[in-house]
Amino acid sequence: MRRESATDISTTLSTDTFELANICWDDLGFGLVETDYMYLMKCSSDGTFSNGELVQFGNIELSPSSGVLNYGQGLFEGLKAYRKKDGSILMFRPEENALRMRMGAERMCMPAPTVDQFVEAVKLTVLKNKRWVPPAGKGSLYIRPLLMGSGAVLGLAPAPEYTFLIYVSPVGNYFKEGLAPINLVVENEFHRATPGGTGGVKTIGNYASVLKAQSAAKAKGYSDVLYLDSSHKKYLEEVSSCNVFIVKDRKITTPGIKGTILPGITRKSIIDVARKQGFQVEERLIPVEELLEADEVFCTGTAVVVSPVGSVTYLGKRVTYGDNGVGVVSQQLYSSLTSLQMGLMEDTMGWTVA
Ligand code: COI
Repeated sequence: MRRESATDISTTLSTDTFELANICWDDLGFGLVETDYMYLMKCSSDGTFSNGELVQFGNIELSPSSGVLNYGQGLFEGLKAYRKKDGSILMFRPEENALRMRMGAERMCMPAPTVDQFVEAVKLTVLKNKRWVPPAGKGSLYIRPLLMGSGAVLGLAPAPEYTFLIYVSPVGNYFKEGLAPINLVVENEFHRATPGGTGGVKTIGNYASVLKAQSAAKAKGYSDVLYLDSSHKKYLEEVSSCNVFIVKDRKITTPGIKGTILPGITRKSIIDVARKQGFQVEERLIPVEELLEADEVFCTGTAVVVSPVGSVTYLGKRVTYGDNGVGVVSQQLYSSLTSLQMGLMEDTMGWTVA
């Protein structure tokens, strides 16, 4: 494994001469493309992280008895870097991911890198893999930070050692539909989260537990599953991998954050962008019936960005939106957010990091 001390590398993400990776940039989906480097940092016994290093991308060694493998003591994050037309690179709100990882770590009894350590590590990883950041308009570099209990533990307890790791992959659209509207089914048997559980943090187990319902929905031709709250089976929560919004009479509504819903960074950004553009946005309990009467429905997430919903099926009844085209509000918010993320407009929000 080739190793490089993180402190030796300059941290500006802007251009200098390098050659783009030799792959077909037009064919990117949301699958792993192995890149050159990943970042590794261990937590010492005093609970602090230090001596991060960039190593060649590859498999890692873990004890069969590690906390993450045995008891799911792990978190992940997702954020993106975009190449601008002038070749320079922008990251979107990395400090928000750092804060969310710290919040999740507290819930999962894990130590976490500081916000500065996290952001610096992300910058270094992007910089060392900059030939993998797609050309402007062809996609983005998806950045996947992981935090895991890597120490061995047999009896149920927090692991004695932790590893922070970042790898990256160039990506295109998340859903196979691309930017075309997706078709959701409301899940009536399984739930993603329960009050007092871990639905509000980005722990790895939240994602394993939705696979069964998601696979069943996909086998029936749906793009994904929309979950209802587990207490009443009445209120909208989120889709397996993203948050949900509805639009009615140009008023935008999304489920409020109350512990069972992931506090999405794209969700938060869309709320702010929409309010700035004069939309009224409410965060509250949304009975499933409101979904069926909406003018538009869309999902938000780092991976999905803003994804319009073309139909929702609930208890066998299918409701369609916008004649299967992209609704005007969804389109407007998608364009505003992506222009900002890609550096096509001035970042008046101060969200991008160069
Ligand atoms: C993201 O949007 O970055 C996520 O973490 C969702 C994941 C299932 C791809």
